Amino acid sequence: MFPEAPCKYGYEECKATADWLLDHAPVRPLVGIVCGSGLGGLAEMLKDQKVFSYSDIPDFPQSTVHGHAGRLVFGTLKGKPCVCMQGRFHLYEGYPVQKITMPIRIFKLMGVETVILTNAAGGLNQDYKVGDVMIIKDHINMPGFAGSNPLCGPNDERFGTRFPCMSDAYDRKLRQLASEVGAELGYSNFLKEGVYCVLGGPSFETIAECRMLNRLGADAVGMSTVHEVIVARHCGMRVFALSLISNQAVMDYDSQEKANHEEVLQTGEQRSQQLVKLVSTIVTRIDQHKREECTRSDH
Ligand code: HPA
Repeated sequence: MFPEAPCKYGYEECKATADWLLDHAPVRPLVGIVCGSGLGGLAEMLKDQKVFSYSDIPDFPQSTVHGHAGRLVFGTLKGKPCVCMQGRFHLYEGYPVQKITMPIRIFKLMGVETVILTNAAGGLNQDYKVGDVMIIKDHINMPGFAGSNPLCGPNDERFGTRFPCMSDAYDRKLRQLASEVGAELGYSNFLKEGVYCVLGGPSFETIAECRMLNRLGADAVGMSTVHEVIVARHCGMRVFALSLISNQAVMDYDSQEKANHEEVLQTGEQRSQQLVKLVSTIVTRIDQHKREECTRSDH
């Protein structure tokens, strides 16, 4: 295996795809958005869209999951150039973790500075309700404990350092901005902040697993996002991520509840308008926020 194995998802491959996209896209994006299950509506907000099917992009992975459209959408949000993935890739599709995260490196090579990720997740925190939106403040990378980290293998310094820090993975200023925007929009009653735990999936967790994860400090559990966050931080992009609590993880042996993908998609649809409003407002304020920060630090 590695380090001898040729890397099919390395710098040159990512660069070739990024260059192809830049040649065909109307804008050079500054913000990259990854839409989770049932949350693809975010892309509809973009003006002057140019849409690519993943199957039409050279060397781009293909989405296999129901609820994930498999389209890359370029456009602007109040003038800010964005690119939006409608449909992401997961470990459980059988892809190597380096392939799942390849689009994030393509974002970087296209000029993206800020990555926003959304996902649907099961609520472990007993105070959470279905429909809550959790601002991710930290993560637990369970597959990483078993050696499945997207940065495994030879490190390419053109992306980043061998041993990147993860204690500041989720940008504090962007989390603060999201809370402020959420309060302005009247969303505070369903907006939380917590720790997201990723598992390999595709089977949902057992009761014992949910209890264990909750005791370990996880507030929500899912099957995505963390690999992308690690790669985005490795190459120096700012990260903001949200989980829509689409179902309550089953923690009680007397419960008749069963996690299922249809519930996940339905909750996404019900909350999607508010989520779209929240994320799009955050995107339009990112610069303003940065400017305020600079002005504050001038004094
Ligand atoms: N577990 C894991 N992944 C999920 C869940 C869940 O309960 N809900 C949505 N994605």
